[in-house]
Amino acid sequence: MRKKFKLAVLVSGQGSNLQALIDNIKLGKLKTRIEVVLSDNFKANAINIALENNIPAVSLERSGFSSRKEFEGKMLKILEGYTPDLIVLAGFMRVLSKNFIKTFPRKIINIHPALLPAFPGLDSQNQALEYGVKISGATVHFVDEGVDTGPIIIQKAVRVKDNDSRDSLAARILKLEHKILTEAIELIRKEKIIITGRQVKYKK
Ligand code: GAR
Repeated sequence: MRKKFKLAVLVSGQGSNLQALIDNIKLGKLKTRIEVVLSDNFKANAINIALENNIPAVSLERSGFSSRKEFEGKMLKILEGYTPDLIVLAGFMRVLSKNFIKTFPRKIINIHPALLPAFPGLDSQNQALEYGVKISGATVHFVDEGVDTGPIIIQKAVRVKDNDSRDSLAARILKLEHKILTEAIELIRKEKIIITGRQVKYKK
């Protein structure tokens, strides 16, 4: 029997992407198991979502450690204990170090609320509104050493409306995020992608 594909999910906030993953696992759309949820924020609602679903959850605040190295060292130790096949950054608002990333080569993906390479970093929805783009969207990409620069796995677009606020645009983008994060994980689980340089292509 094929072994279960194991996820570790890193979060910082409300956890709607985590909830979507859990829902999609229950619906059979995502054939993985979430082994652990790791948060860098004690107050993250995502932690409650994990616990309500009987998923082990750990909170580690950066302020509790004397250096980034020590903080990431602890995260790595926890993650390695769960031997994840894939680490999913689902609203994780922290940039990971080169050392962290090279521990899990091409095994970390991130969901970002814009059509990269436009509007990387923080509050991308506001960046998009202020720039005046007519289309924005969501991107799932592999994590590399830059900020939101890794090879793109999936993108989907939404129209930006004249009367959009940051929140109305963010809500429409989140709906896409909830779909494409599951799609990207399934492509990886089924070994349906080929990465060449920074290009990700789908196998037939
Ligand atoms: C999502 O929009 C996600 O794309 C974004 O944070 C939100 C988390 O929502 N992530 C980033 O901006 C990372 N740079 P959630 O906690 O409800 O999943």
